[in-house]
Amino acid sequence: MQDDWSLNPNVRKLLRRVPLPISLPTPLRRGLGRSTATELLGTRAVLTHLRDSLDLALAQAVQHAGAAVTIADPAGDTTLTGRIVDGGGQLVPATADLPGGLLAAIVQSGASGDRRPVTLIHRVTRPHSSDLAVNETTDALLAVGHAAAQLPANSRLLLVIGPDLRGDSLAGLMTAATQGFARSAFKELGKTGSTCHVLRVEDAQAAAALAAFLASPRAAFLTGLDLLAQKSLAGDAADRPALEGKSVLVTGAARGIGAAIAERLALEGALVWINDIAQSQAAAADTVAQIRARGGQAEFIAADVGTLTGAQAIADAIGKGQGPLHGIIHNAGITRDRTLRKMSVAQWRQVLQVNFGAMHLVQTAVTPLLQPGAAMVLMSSVMGISGNFGQTNYSASKSAVIELAKQWACDGYARGLRANAIAPGFILTDMTAQMPVMNREMAKQLTALLQPGLPLDVAELACFLIGAQSRGVTGQVLRCDGGMAFGA
Ligand code: NAI
Repeated sequence: MQDDWSLNPNVRKLLRRVPLPISLPTPLRRGLGRSTATELLGTRAVLTHLRDSLDLALAQAVQHAGAAVTIADPAGDTTLTGRIVDGGGQLVPATADLPGGLLAAIVQSGASGDRRPVTLIHRVTRPHSSDLAVNETTDALLAVGHAAAQLPANSRLLLVIGPDLRGDSLAGLMTAATQGFARSAFKELGKTGSTCHVLRVEDAQAAAALAAFLASPRAAFLTGLDLLAQKSLAGDAADRPALEGKSVLVTGAARGIGAAIAERLALEGALVWINDIAQSQAAAADTVAQIRARGGQAEFIAADVGTLTGAQAIADAIGKGQGPLHGIIHNAGITRDRTLRKMSVAQWRQVLQVNFGAMHLVQTAVTPLLQPGAAMVLMSSVMGISGNFGQTNYSASKSAVIELAKQWACDGYARGLRANAIAPGFILTDMTAQMPVMNREMAKQLTALLQPGLPLDVAELACFLIGAQSRGVTGQVLRCDGGMAFGA
């Protein structure tokens, strides 16, 4: 696997001496190995509000995960703040709607020169009037932004829209203002490796689990997400993926992103069914061997997902083996880039069949094996959102994948089945190694984090979406793109 040259310490040292107009990225703090209950150890979390059960669930989630929590809310509910203080947290009340006040509280919350990453959680409140130009609530966004812009590297800003902020035009205006703010803020925060997300909340437990994941090093390459935390019929969201005893199918998993996902799931205790075409037997054997060498369980199924017989072969292998199935990562994908003038029918059909049609074939074949509460992850691409020159076939297929995830989520909701799409941006794999050097460099500069992602980044997100942590997330598309400037 190629590495990104701009993260090489020697190259960075050299470039700092030469005054070239190149922005160097901040190395990201990533999670490694199996998940633990204390993923936020060595970090701080600051909440601007602690007034109801949602605020408390968020504060407790980050505190249980090991963050040193500070409540900066001067009007906080003393019974609730007492619970966070009892858990080792502290109160440093700050007037969040005044620029400077919140930052002072954050500085006070740590020792002098404290460079531990901070998760700043701001609960957006209801404005007093629809005049958003002169309003304490909108001013608070600026104060929070001022503070976020000065946090240590690899920090997080989570903007929380609670159930109270819905249902009328005033709430709608404030939500839209927050979303617009976040879409710009994440672009500014990226150069220090920091990220920003919006969480719209229907269910407090689902939001708490989602916040803890987004705050963790596992979400280092995710930024600019706008997610809904819902109630799940499959039960409350947990604080760990909890994949022991579960079996998960990953298509196209001999190498690249699929292999990284398979390895990540196996590390959490899942039995992983690794599918790929017969020609990838050698690479698949390597992936299986690596998983088994670490004590994990994996089996290879050679099958072409783009054919009915291939899809049925997968279902037969799992059914005769240790079925049932608790999760599917529909990952297999190909590119056949051509401009419209030059694109043949074969190139068009092949891409649509492998990237999109195959998902339908495999899903239909394995449906009898799916357990209640099973989760599906469908691999899309940012190109399915934005489109790209010379990729009409790829964009069409990946755009259809997003719609498919939404439809499966809708159809499966009553049975507790979940489906989400991941839209990776520029990830270092064999597929992107074929891109011309200039295009690769441009793709990096177009991300807020100024760097490409690793297969591990997509694997962390896929593992989260398959596991019990994400029970409140369904029917959504999650970009894993370091904040690419592309698309809506
Ligand atoms: P890759 O080319 O490294 O790996 C894809 C795997 O799928 C290969 O092992 C290949 O043999 C397998 N495969 C292809 N056709 C198959 C078929 N008919 N049946 C079974 N297996 C088949 O690709 P990479 O980069 O790991 O991409 C994985 C997924 O992520 C794809 O769906 C791709 O479109 C998507 N993606 C990747 C991005 C990137 O930057 N690498 C960006 C956006 C999306």
